[in-house]
Amino acid sequence: MAHKIAVIGGDGIGPEVTAQALKVMEAAGIELDSTDFDLGGARYLRDGEILSDEVLSELRGFDAILLGAVGTPDVPPGVIERGLLLKMRFELDLYVNQRPFQGTAPGHSIPHDFVVIRENTEGPYVGEGGVLRKGTANEVATQGSVNTRMGVERCVRYAFDLARQRDRKHVTLVHKTNVLTFAGNLWERTFDEVAAEYPDVATAYNHVDAACIYFVQDPHRYDVVVTDNLFGDILTDLGGAVSGGIGLASSANLNPARTGPSMFEPVHGSAPDIAGQNKANPTAAILSAALMLDFLGETAAADRIRAACDDPGAGGTTSVGDTIAARVRG
Ligand code: IPM
Ligand code: MN
Repeated sequence: MAHKIAVIGGDGIGPEVTAQALKVMEAAGIELDSTDFDLGGARYLRDGEILSDEVLSELRGFDAILLGAVGTPDVPPGVIERGLLLKMRFELDLYVNQRPFQGTAPGHSIPHDFVVIRENTEGPYVGEGGVLRKGTANEVATQGSVNTRMGVERCVRYAFDLARQRDRKHVTLVHKTNVLTFAGNLWERTFDEVAAEYPDVATAYNHVDAACIYFVQDPHRYDVVVTDNLFGDILTDLGGAVSGGIGLASSANLNPARTGPSMFEPVHGSAPDIAGQNKANPTAAILSAALMLDFLGETAAADRIRAACDDPGAGGTTSVGDTIAARVRG
């Protein structure tokens, strides 16, 4: 049966890279019933639509959402990010952001293979706070971080379940417990309590600043990393940088309870500076589509696509997509 997919190409290079991902899935023989949604900065500038409740409820009827990238320099920062991307993450309860990293870090000779599980619905991303006396010398801005026992626990549990399926069976908690003592303590206690239920999974803890060093100097120590929303955002750009570049970094925004569609997108942004020039690397979008196929149970096709993404050579967006599609076709 065809998978019912919503495609949000979005802004900048987004539509270019999602087109390649669709092409590769088709080459893999995946039957898709896909519907394009014209959303993002360009649409907002045209008629004000960001993500209305009507469109959101339409999206709920799909098996999955494939997203390119959103954001344009013509719209103030946060409008599209918060109104579209974060709204989907929150409203569809995509509480796990899974970002796998495989590659050989600069200065290393042995490849690493680890995955970051980023909490995706809480932390500083909830938008708690406000501003007083804006634009004056006495301006005050606060930005809170919301951490719930339920939210932390379901994310940590997902990380342990994932580690259990992997060879090394190891989970590292990354936080900043020495400074963020309230949130950090909640994360640490929750992590330790969940860990006790998984005696077969080994654990470690790193402060986030130390983790930045290890990502570069000793990435092999990691198997599964679990962390909060903002630390996970920052660390996964670093993860991309040490794993062949951000052009290869894929991600899955998951609702593991499957009460609605999950969303799959490259880690990179809309890159307006190279949009429309056939220059963007489509590999991250194609690997994100592979994560989508994993989640839809098409694991054989997903594995074939991943293998085909190995070093597809230099070239423009369409030619890299063509190379990968041809390899997938076999
Ligand atoms: C990401 C992006 C988003 C985030 C932005 C576009 C809101 O950087 O998916 O990593 O911060 O989560
Ligand atoms: Mn990011």
